[in-house]
Amino acid sequence: MSMVVFPYKADDPDVAVANLATAASHPRVSRVVAVGAASTPLLDRVADGAAEVARRADAAVEVVVQDRIGDRRPGKGDGMLTGMRLFLASDEERVHFYDADITNFDASWIDGAEGALDAGYPVVRHFFPRASTDAMITWMVTRPLFAIGHPRSALWRIRQPLGGELALTRPVAEELMASEFVTRRSDWGIDTALTYAMAAGGHAVYEHYVAGGKQHALYGSLAELEEMLWECFEAAVETTRLPSPPPFEHVTEPEAPAPPAIAHKVGYDVESTLHLLAAEWTADEEEAAASLPPSIGEPLLANRRRPTFAFCDADAWYRALTSLLSLYRPEPAWRRVLFRLWVARVLAYTTTDALCGHGEAMRRLETTVQSYAARSGDREAGD
Ligand code: LAC
Repeated sequence: MSMVVFPYKADDPDVAVANLATAASHPRVSRVVAVGAASTPLLDRVADGAAEVARRADAAVEVVVQDRIGDRRPGKGDGMLTGMRLFLASDEERVHFYDADITNFDASWIDGAEGALDAGYPVVRHFFPRASTDAMITWMVTRPLFAIGHPRSALWRIRQPLGGELALTRPVAEELMASEFVTRRSDWGIDTALTYAMAAGGHAVYEHYVAGGKQHALYGSLAELEEMLWECFEAAVETTRLPSPPPFEHVTEPEAPAPPAIAHKVGYDVESTLHLLAAEWTADEEEAAASLPPSIGEPLLANRRRPTFAFCDADAWYRALTSLLSLYRPEPAWRRVLFRLWVARVLAYTTTDALCGHGEAMRRLETTVQSYAARSGDREAGD
């Protein structure tokens, strides 16, 4: 039987409770746990709803507050790690994770994962169509750094390495929880660490396609993603210093064209993002930016006078990432420089490739990651 874990922060309690009920009524599921980031009135409402669900369901349903497990900022990582711990202390054979705020969560997500687990895949990851200007950390940071760090591994081919929707067998969960690289990541870096560690374990990965997409709350300006950007970047940089994963079987279900609601959606608010480039430069930031190669540092610094981002095309971004691999330090000045560079890259992409229609934009994103792997593979071969 399976356990289903929903990390919960401050999402709509009614959505979370509906998702707990969906999971609890699935015939394969014997235990459902919402792991709250903190004890809050919202979490109390989830707990009240969960008690109702438990009265009607055969599965056990509970709400807990996450433990302090990692040594980074206490965040989503501690929530997922707490879920893993509860799973390993239970009798269930499989564990699923789903974000609590998915508004179109239904039994088909669980069915899709259980089917692939039944077929012998120990790791199942759900993936789904996303707006061409959504997933900008995935496309600009995580997959590129996996491609640069491990160009010959299938790691960078994993479609949604930051996805929190996945299912695992017990032996894989045991192995992940024995990895310090994973258990230290209490912050947004957890998904990066888990994706790398699953690949490093050599496990076959099955990617299950959810054609309807994942409907959930969207972002305003890119400023809302700043902390997530640093934490995902820092975790991905660490993976570049670890051994490349061995070959592993990687099966991806075929994708369908995105439904119009996703294809036509804008992932973030462009106007409120633009001023982030020019706002409040500190002397430390200027110094950090000035130490970048001039072809990147100079146009970035020009933003002190007026927003400018067209310089940050796919080629400049490759050079920026490879420079950051040696220059970046996890401190405020470098975090701001990384953030501004990423904002420039996202705006440059939004005003060029993303204008070519959803299908074409997605093809270009994929081709760019491929070209980074090819370029890094050539560089490695030349060493
Ligand atoms: C990503 C985050 C922003 O996938 O959802 O990039």
